[in-house]
Formats: sequence, C-alpha cells, structure tokens
Amino acid sequence: MGIHMDLIKTIEWKDDKVIILDQRRLPNEEVYNTYEDYLGVAQAIHGMVIRGAPAIGVAAAMGVALGAMGIGVGTFDAYYEKLIAICNRIASTRPTAVNLFWALDRMKACALANKDRPLNQITEILKAEALGIYSEDIESNRMIGRNGQKLLRDGMTVLTHCNAGGLATAGYGTALGVIYAASEAGKRIHVMADETRPRLQGAKLTAWELQKHGLQVTVIADTMAGHFMKKGKIDAVLVGADRIAANGDVANKIGTYQVAVLAARHKIPFYVAAPVSTIDPKISSGEEVPIEERDPQEVTHIGSIQITPKYVKVENPSFDVTPAELVTAIITERGVCEPPYAESIAQILGTA
Ligand code: MRU
Repeated sequence: MGIHMDLIKTIEWKDDKVIILDQRRLPNEEVYNTYEDYLGVAQAIHGMVIRGAPAIGVAAAMGVALGAMGIGVGTFDAYYEKLIAICNRIASTRPTAVNLFWALDRMKACALANKDRPLNQITEILKAEALGIYSEDIESNRMIGRNGQKLLRDGMTVLTHCNAGGLATAGYGTALGVIYAASEAGKRIHVMADETRPRLQGAKLTAWELQKHGLQVTVIADTMAGHFMKKGKIDAVLVGADRIAANGDVANKIGTYQVAVLAARHKIPFYVAAPVSTIDPKISSGEEVPIEERDPQEVTHIGSIQITPKYVKVENPSFDVTPAELVTAIITERGVCEPPYAESIAQILGTA
C-alpha cells in the first residue's frame, strides 16, 4: 500500500459560519476567510476565493444555509420567496459549472419538501442538507478515485490541466483524486501540470497541493504539452469538468480542448473525472454550455504587471468544450463511462 492522503481544508462549516481557504493567495500564503452572510459567499465564488465545480456547489449550498439563517419569521411562502432571492443571487456568480445550479436546486427542493415544518426547523434542515452535500462530495471523490485509479499503472506520467484536486472540491479531488487513489494503492505517478493561463490554477494550485501531498509534480507552460507528448513523455491526460452534456461533450477550463486534440494526435488516452452532479442531462451537447467570459485584465496582466500594450483588444473565455469523440472515458463515482456516451451516461444516471 502507498501513502494516505489527508483532505485539503478547502471549505468548512463551523459555528454557523463558512470558512474558506483563500485560493487567490496560494501558493504563497494559506489564509482562511470567514463568511457570516450569503452575500460574502457569493462574492467569494465570483471573485475566485473558492473555485472548481464541486467546491462552488458546496459553497453555494453553505451560502444558502447562511442566508436561510437570516430570513426571520413569517409564513412559509414569504420564507421561500426570500430563499429564492438568495439562490438567484448565488446563481448569478458564475455560469459554467453546473454543480452550482445543481446544489441550489437541491437546497430549494429540500425547503419545499419540508414546507409544513416550523421555519426554524427548515433552516436547521437546510444546514444539514448543505453539510450533506459537503460530505457526499468527499465520498464521491473517493469513489471516483477508486474507479479511476485502475486505469493508471505504476510509473506513469499523467498530464493534468487547471486544478481538479482537493482545492476544487470539498477536499479530496476528482482528476487529482484519481492520482491520490493510485498513490494510496502504491502506484508511483508523476504528474505534469499545465500552468493554465490566464489564472494559472495549474502552476499555483495543482503544484501546491501535489507538493503538499508529497507527490512528484513538474509544471510546464501550456505551450509545451505537444512537445512532451511527441517525445513520449506523457502516458495519459486526466482532467476534471465543469459541465458534461448528455452526449459526453465536456466543458472544462480553457485550454482543455487543445490538450485533448494533442492527446488524440499522439494516441494518448484522455480521461475526464467528475461526479455525477457535473453531468447536465438537460443539455444534449456542449454547444449549449454557457461559457463564462472573465475580466480582460486576467489576460493583459500577470499578477499586477501588465504584459500587453495598453488598450489592446483581448478575449478571455474561461472554459472550452471538448467534443465527446476526443474523450477516452469519463470516470464517475458510479462507474466509468465509455463511448457511446449518450448510452453510458444515461445508464449511470438511471435514465436509460
Ligand atoms: O475557473 P475555475 O478555476 O473554477 O475552473 C476550474 C476547472 O475548470 C476545473 O477543471 C473543474 O471545475 C473541475 S474541478 C474538480
């Protein structure tokens, strides 16, 4: 057996407050921020204090629970109307990761299912629901790890893009969860982490958490992936997802698509690891995924330093869509989906 991976404390519910590790300050400083109201949590999601699809879902649920605590007394209808307003505010933070909307829908459904109870009891039930979403995420990450690690062999080098680790979830990770599970099973995996411009989640966050866990990691610039694939230095690609369409198209961090194209060119398996909550059965293809456009300053600057001429035009889509035909397998907590995805995804969702 290999080493045991401790969870990263990405987010926590403590004494009716939400504690979030400020990812904007990593890797140089480990600072935890405390949030006492839902507006603060909404700002934290929007401002990338916490990011990564499953972590955003957990933060949204905890934000709703904080918001519910402040609603006060009255009828259920008035309570629910305020709850919807809270959910709408949190929903407006980031558009692409479906886990955000999945968690909000779950919180609303939970309130409705308990509408005949006293309001203070409903608030307690909503807190428990948020904590349930948190612990289920850790559990499903561990299952993703167990299911996915079978695809990795001792000694492999795996390329990952962005951060789909403990920091992007309640604490274990999806794509990195697979690597952690392989390491826990005694396999030595070397990770290559793409820098992931413009926000550098790979260089800053993936490298930080892999080092913290004592795993071997090499950071490369995004432009180097093809070179290393051509040299035979990469055995597999493993990434997370922000939204998976019913046909298996995968929306993930900008740059994922080009890595998938390169992997296909070099006949390297391209794996996606994600919980079932990342699958959006309501959309038939990746064309329907809303792609977040972020501040141009993320492209024009690195940190506080401007790297472009002033006033130059830039584009900054934060996600792209990898067509299902480039995806070798989708690893979930319920099992590994293989092509044709319309069938294997429906099977895993129980809608086949
Ligand atoms: O903009 P971010 O940092 O929230 O984007 C994160 C990603 O694209 C991750 O790969 C994805 O959310 C999966 S996290 C398990």
